[in-house]
Amino acid sequence: MSAGFVPPPYPYDRLDALLPLADALPGGVVDLSIGTPCDPPLPAVVAALSSSNSERGYPPSIGTDDLRRAFCAWLGRRFKVDVSTDQVAACVGTKEFVGTVPQWLKLRTPDRDTVLYPAASYPTYEMGAILAGCRPLPVPVLDDGSFRLDLAAIDPADAARALLLWVNSPGNPTGALDDLGAAAAWGRAHGVPVFSDECYCEFTWDGPPRTILEHGLDGVIALHSLSKRSNLAGVRVGFYAGDPDLVHYLREVRKHVGMLVPGPAQAAGVVALADDDHVVAQRDRYRRRLELLARVFAKWSGVDVPLPAGGFYLWFEVDGDWAFTERLAREGGALVSPGELYGKAYHRYVRAAVVQPLDRLTLVAERLGVT
Ligand SMILES: Cc1ncc(COP(=O)(O)O)c(C=O)c1O
Repeated sequence: MSAGFVPPPYPYDRLDALLPLADALPGGVVDLSIGTPCDPPLPAVVAALSSSNSERGYPPSIGTDDLRRAFCAWLGRRFKVDVSTDQVAACVGTKEFVGTVPQWLKLRTPDRDTVLYPAASYPTYEMGAILAGCRPLPVPVLDDGSFRLDLAAIDPADAARALLLWVNSPGNPTGALDDLGAAAAWGRAHGVPVFSDECYCEFTWDGPPRTILEHGLDGVIALHSLSKRSNLAGVRVGFYAGDPDLVHYLREVRKHVGMLVPGPAQAAGVVALADDDHVVAQRDRYRRRLELLARVFAKWSGVDVPLPAGGFYLWFEVDGDWAFTERLAREGGALVSPGELYGKAYHRYVRAAVVQPLDRLTLVAERLGVT
């Protein structure tokens, strides 16, 4: 009998052993390992959670009319793209979407079995492929320091087997901004749907935020989340938008599984999407923290710590990821993520999420003796 599936350790659980080292310092651990927002959501959004009167009935899986209108209005405002309410649908945050979409695509296209995703990336792209019994295949990124996808490196035989290509811009962990037009064109040329995870788009530093939908809807899906934009990771509201046939198919299949954003969360999402001022304030917080922490880490360790083109992570090269992470935990009481969690080849990188207030980052600087 062959061995069945054994889930691997959850990536961040592997850091549990280092946490006590950091927590032993006076003031406790400053956790920069997971990209979980720490700043408050809008009070009006929190109020909407308790006043929607939507607790009793089942919420629509695709999202209420109001919520889908809010998604479309935001896309129009932010990117000047025109998407109709039947070309969008809600998801329960985006992680579940990333983790499950390969199995729905495999059912629809059983003669394809491969999921393509960036070699340095959010671990759920690979896990979604594994959970669908598919073949995960990392796409190399350019080695010019840009971390953009090297689409030309995809073997035509792999493209012919591909169910989808993931792009993620701004990218986690690298902060890279990809060429979304090139990705859309590659997908159309090879008959491969392109799924563009754009959950960090509001935190684009080099130029305006971008979406793959600016390059047409045909064969592409953009994925968005309120988790990072509006500090609502605990509320679980995301959405996907794009190719009408794909959206229709995913809406139908996801209804059957009962993928439902709770009604109060949908109501809160409408309020969050209508407001842009809180996003401006959040951008400012992340920017200041990125600049402070990049300076502190560079001065302390002597390595180059570049500011990202987007996102709220510092991603930088070190001698060894686990050794650096341990030393920083011991000496600075800060926990970062070893690069290996984002791709086997990245064991000489670490990622730091600037999800702690400035006074906590200043405490790390003081512990490290950086002024
Ligand atoms: C690249 C990327 N995609 C998706 C997600 C999932 O976010 P959520 O499920 O909160 O929308 C994350 C979370 O960190 C992420 O980094």
